[in-house]
Amino acid sequence: MPALVVVGAQWGDEGKGKVVDLYTPFADLVVRYAGGANAGHTLVVRGEKVILHLIPSGILHEGQNCVIAQGTVLDPAVLLQEIAALEQRGVSVRGRLLISDRAHVVLPVHKLVDELTEAKSGGKIGTTKRGIGPTYQDKAARRGVRFGDLQRPELLRQKLEANFAGWKPVVESMGGTLPDLEAVLAQYVDFAKQLAGFVSDTGVVVGEAVKRGDRILLEGAQGTMLDLDHGTYPYVTSSSAVSGGACTGAGIGPTAITKVIGISKAYATRVGGGPFPSELFGEEGDALRKAGHEFGSTTGRPRRCGWIDAPALRLAVRVNGMDEIALTKLDVLTGRDEIRICVAYEQNGQRLLEPPYEGWDDLRPVYETFPGWKEPIGGCRTRAELPENARRYLARLEELVGCRIGIVSVGPDREETADLVDPFGR
Ligand code: GDP
Ligand code: IMO
Ligand code: MG
Repeated sequence: MPALVVVGAQWGDEGKGKVVDLYTPFADLVVRYAGGANAGHTLVVRGEKVILHLIPSGILHEGQNCVIAQGTVLDPAVLLQEIAALEQRGVSVRGRLLISDRAHVVLPVHKLVDELTEAKSGGKIGTTKRGIGPTYQDKAARRGVRFGDLQRPELLRQKLEANFAGWKPVVESMGGTLPDLEAVLAQYVDFAKQLAGFVSDTGVVVGEAVKRGDRILLEGAQGTMLDLDHGTYPYVTSSSAVSGGACTGAGIGPTAITKVIGISKAYATRVGGGPFPSELFGEEGDALRKAGHEFGSTTGRPRRCGWIDAPALRLAVRVNGMDEIALTKLDVLTGRDEIRICVAYEQNGQRLLEPPYEGWDDLRPVYETFPGWKEPIGGCRTRAELPENARRYLARLEELVGCRIGIVSVGPDREETADLVDPFGR
C-alpha cells in the first residue's frame, strides 16, 4: 500500500506542482491534503503554463483520478473558475475529481476578516488575503461551514446565521461591514448546484484505495517553514503543511505512508513577512529574483530571495521524516561566480544547526562558499551530466542536511528534469 507524500521543505513555492505532475503517471490517485487558494502550483507542459490553486496537480494527465481532501479549505468561486479554465483547455475534470464533503468552505466574511486584519497590522504577516486563516479559525471554533452543508440549504442558512453572529463584533470593531446574509446564501446555494456532482466522502474513497494497495500521491501545499506547528510562528499559514498533515488531511493512517519526498529550491525564497536569515537584499536579491522569475503564483508579489538554508532544511528532514529531496531550479544558479549555502546560524556566540524558538533578529547566517558553473544545464537528464561544481554543491548539501537528493529539476518544463524514476518503485 504505497502512499507517497510530496511536501514543501522551505517557505512554499518550491516547485511542488511540477514534481506532482511528474510523478502522476506512476500513481493511481492524486490527493491534495491541505491549504486552500493561498497555494499556487505551476505546471509547464511543452511551454504551456497552468497555475492550480485547489485542484491537484495530477489533473493534466488524462484519466487520472484526483481528490481534494478534508484538510483543505475551499473557496467555491475559485474552484469553479479553475474547473472552467481547465475545461476551456480541453481538460475534462468531471467524473474524475472528487471533493470532500468535510472540507471547510471559505465564505466572503473570511476574506473580509483576512483583509481587515492585514490592514490593521500594516501587513505584518503578509497573507494571501484568500480568507485562509479565518476559515481554519472557524473550523477550530466549531462554527465552520463544511462543503457537504452547501447541499442542504436549510442547514446552510442556520450555519450562516450562527457564523455571521460570531463574526459581527469582530468585523465591526475593525470598521468593516458584514455582507448581506441572503445574498451570500443565494450565491452559495448556486455554487452548490454547480458543484453537486463532485461532492463525496473522500475519506472512504482514499481508504478503499489504501486497502486495494493503490499508489497514492499526496500533494502538500505551502511549506514546512510555514507550518502552523513547526514554522516561524506567527509568520505561518493556518494549516498543517508538513507530511503528518497528510494523515489527518486525507484521512489515512501513518502506517500507509511509505515515502516522503521534500521539495526544495536550490536557493531559498519567501513571500510575505517573517524570518529569513539567508535573505539577500539590494542588487543581489534582485538578480536572483530576476533569474528565477520569483513572483508569486497566487498574488504576483515579488518573492524575497536568498541562499539555501541548511538549518531550515534540517528541520524539514526531521519533522517530515523526509526520505529524499527533490531539488528544483538548479538552472537558476547557472552563471554565478560563487554560490553559498547557509550551513548554520550564529546567535549570541552559539552555533545553531536548526531554527531557534526566538531571537531571529540576533541571528547571523554562517556560509560556505562554492565556485559556480557557467554551462547551461537545462538539457541534463542525469546528475552525472551536470557540471562538476554543480555536483559538488549537491553532494555537500546532502551531507549538510542528512538527506539524499533524488530528482534534480533544471527548468520549469516537465521534460527539464534529471534522474526521474518511479517514486513508488523504491
Ligand atoms: P509550488 O507552489 O511549490 O508548486 O511552486 P510554484 O509553482 O508556486 O513556484 C515554482 C515556480 O518555479 C514556477 O513558476 C515553476 O514553473 C518554476 N519552476 C519549477 N521548477 C523549476 C526549475 O527547475 N527551473 C526553473 N527555472 N523554474 C522552475
Ligand atoms: P504554495 O502551495 C508561498 C504565505 C503567505 C504568508 C503566510 C500566511 O504555492 O507553496 P495565508 O494566506 O496562508 O494566511 O498566508 O503564508 N503562503 C505561501 N507562500 N507559497 C504558498 O503556497 C503559500 N501559502 C501561504 O505569503 O506569508
Ligand atoms: Mg506556489
